[in-house]
Amino acid sequence: MSAKKITVAVTRKLPNPVETRLAGLFDVVLNDDDAPLSRAALIERANKADVLAATLGDRLDAAFFAAVGGRLKLIANFGAGTDHIDVAAANARGIQVTNTPSVLAEDAADMAMALVLAVPRRLVEGVRAIESGAFHGWSPTWMLGRRVRGKKLGIIGLGRVGEAIARRAKAFGLSVHYHNRTPINPHVEEELEATYWDSLDQMLAHVDIVSVNCPHTPATFHLLSRRRLKLLQPHTYVVNISRGEIVDETALADLIEDGKIAGAGLDVFEGESPNEKLFRAPNVVLLPHMASATIESRIEMGERVIINIKMFADGHKPPDRVILGLDQDRTPDPA
Ligand code: DGY
Repeated sequence: MSAKKITVAVTRKLPNPVETRLAGLFDVVLNDDDAPLSRAALIERANKADVLAATLGDRLDAAFFAAVGGRLKLIANFGAGTDHIDVAAANARGIQVTNTPSVLAEDAADMAMALVLAVPRRLVEGVRAIESGAFHGWSPTWMLGRRVRGKKLGIIGLGRVGEAIARRAKAFGLSVHYHNRTPINPHVEEELEATYWDSLDQMLAHVDIVSVNCPHTPATFHLLSRRRLKLLQPHTYVVNISRGEIVDETALADLIEDGKIAGAGLDVFEGESPNEKLFRAPNVVLLPHMASATIESRIEMGERVIINIKMFADGHKPPDRVILGLDQDRTPDPA
């Protein structure tokens, strides 16, 4: 198949340099106004294209794949997380799925670290105090947070993002603990001076800050359940830049309200919208899913999308294929 003949339907507005490059290489259908496409519009576009450059928010489930005809052969996802795509259903229709791993790990880790600092040090409360006029000069006992240095950070899912967070955490004087299905490479573990916990429950009871970095799969839905959240010590903070579905947010809000958990920094929410209780909970910093939102990462994500489509168009295996039982199980990247 020659690259020029490939039709690529893009579901959302992408950075201009990415769209320009895509248009130079393929026949493209863009979404200039960036409005999320309805199910019917998604299916219509997919049925007229060889490749769908989809992204988070496009629900590509079994019903979607049942409705797309024989032309579509590749979902080139703009993003690392693929929990909005039923990869098994795609593969069953002969459609490959690719994602954009690695390129957003460092930016996502910066934001996780920002939350690790912001919540114990009450950064957002401080900003609000200035804005609301509540600051009337320094006081020895006002706005006291908790020291970060010397604390234990427990990372759930030490993959690319988790490792990038661990490096930052180490530099800030935190000790690194992690829970994965299996321990990471011993050289990396030694370099990070990281402690592996086979038991998530035991790690949760031991650490001072928890960082959620595993992918959202059926197996990790509400991994931080009410029961597990109750294992945390009252001075512990929870940070999540992965997917909201991994944490039972109602339980988290209840436990923070009851003083059983010290606070939380959340960039992601179940169904992408924070529940009411979280808005009201004290010591909570909420961000609008922006951990990987830098222009540099978005352009590099676009480059990965283009590389995957180009390889496919040239008859090769795209490098970032999501392989069930491998990528889905592998610790994580979503940010
Ligand atoms: C991803 O890539 O999955 C992020 O969550 C969006 O930036």
